[in-house]
Amino acid sequence: MTDLAEVDYFTDPAVTQNPYPYLDHLRSRNPVFREPHHDVVAVTGYQEVVEVFRDPATFSAAISIGGPFPPLPFEPAGDDISAQIEQHRHLFRISEHMVTMDPPDHTRTRALLSRLLTPKRLKENEDFMWQLADHQLDEFLAKGRCEFLTDYAKPFATLVIADLLGVPDADRDEFRARLAGQTTPGTIEGSMYEQATGTNPLEWLDETFSTYIADRRAHPRTDILTTLATTKYPDGSTPELIELVRPATFLFAAGQETVTKLLSAAIRVLAEQPDLQETLRADRSLIGAFMEEALRTESPTKVDFRLARKTTRLGDVDIPAGTVIMLCLGAANRDPRKFEDPDEFRLDRRNAREHIAFGRGIHTCAGAPLARVEGKVTLNRVLDRFHDIAIDDSIHGPADARTYDYEPTFLLRGLRNLNITFAPTAPTH
Ligand code: HEM
Repeated sequence: MTDLAEVDYFTDPAVTQNPYPYLDHLRSRNPVFREPHHDVVAVTGYQEVVEVFRDPATFSAAISIGGPFPPLPFEPAGDDISAQIEQHRHLFRISEHMVTMDPPDHTRTRALLSRLLTPKRLKENEDFMWQLADHQLDEFLAKGRCEFLTDYAKPFATLVIADLLGVPDADRDEFRARLAGQTTPGTIEGSMYEQATGTNPLEWLDETFSTYIADRRAHPRTDILTTLATTKYPDGSTPELIELVRPATFLFAAGQETVTKLLSAAIRVLAEQPDLQETLRADRSLIGAFMEEALRTESPTKVDFRLARKTTRLGDVDIPAGTVIMLCLGAANRDPRKFEDPDEFRLDRRNAREHIAFGRGIHTCAGAPLARVEGKVTLNRVLDRFHDIAIDDSIHGPADARTYDYEPTFLLRGLRNLNITFAPTAPTH
């Protein structure tokens, strides 16, 4: 029998369909394990992943999305490659986006985003979400069945971000049409290079937002895009137009696929367990715990990467400068040293919220509050408006022999489709 550790995590189709046995096996060998195919050190232990996230001085985010693809644009030399990283920074994939930046550039760019994501803006965005959820559900409610990703989760996730950024109403259909059907980055179909980042769906967005912002700078209005266009750095200086466009457009890349995967994972659990539907319907305050457990057990960002800038040690493993580190969030969130019976979905798990599905440290997901609200709103509205939610046996097979198809990607964890049936609840007014 093949040793599971010999499997190529990045290309093995069975591992993309169910990565957990492979990741458990690595952890049992060593929570810090050098996999043999791409010379990547896979970190599957909770404590060890947190340690890396918390230490940006030792671990650079330059390769956070692509990991080993493409290979480093230089040959690492010595015990500190910080200078080499800086020299070649422009050659790293999506180096223009904050998720790959290190301080001080990361600090400056992230500050722009925090000026946009104010409590007031998030509250207005939540009000929009309640209406949007109803609107989306209205589109297919009467049919009693749907493919949840296409019919609900994808357009919902796209339009929430469009609203957050103040995309004019007249343009929203185009955003939905162009963005809600994107393919997932990190797929093992297609070239290795494209896998790492996907094709560049951000180009159209960059152009569109450049036009919005240039227009608002020339003709200020009282809308959100004007707020974005006039945002300044904390030191009072004015960003270049493109420096504002990038944090804005990156939200689509960061928040569409991930949210779609979270919502569909949550609805799958709900549809598989009718008793949970009743429990949550009767006590809506449990929805928060339910979403945290969905994030923990099916962490949408399956892995995330760092580059060791200095020679160091992690756990009991020597890490030379230049090592590609794969932080396995989905595995850390099932580390039995942190979470008791980690494979069980438990509504009453005491420490569920300590999961690291949103990362940790300076790059902690900027959209986590938004994603949590998207989960809350969706679950509430689905429970309000559907009864007897069930998996569609005609597509996924009977309860004792289900088949689910997961996106074939090394980066993300999520269903390709989810067909459910339900009985629409009669309106009470
Ligand atoms: C369930 C949904 C989501 C998950 C699981 C998720 C996960 C993550 C993770 C793990 C990171 C850290 C990456 C790293 O350290 O290398 C991250 C960063 C980020 N996320 Fe999310 N995310 C989600 C939704 C969103 C949404 C809805 C938005 C915005 C609309 C968003 C915006 C961002 C941004 C801007 C970053 C970069 C932060 C930085 O580099 O400082 N995310 N996300």
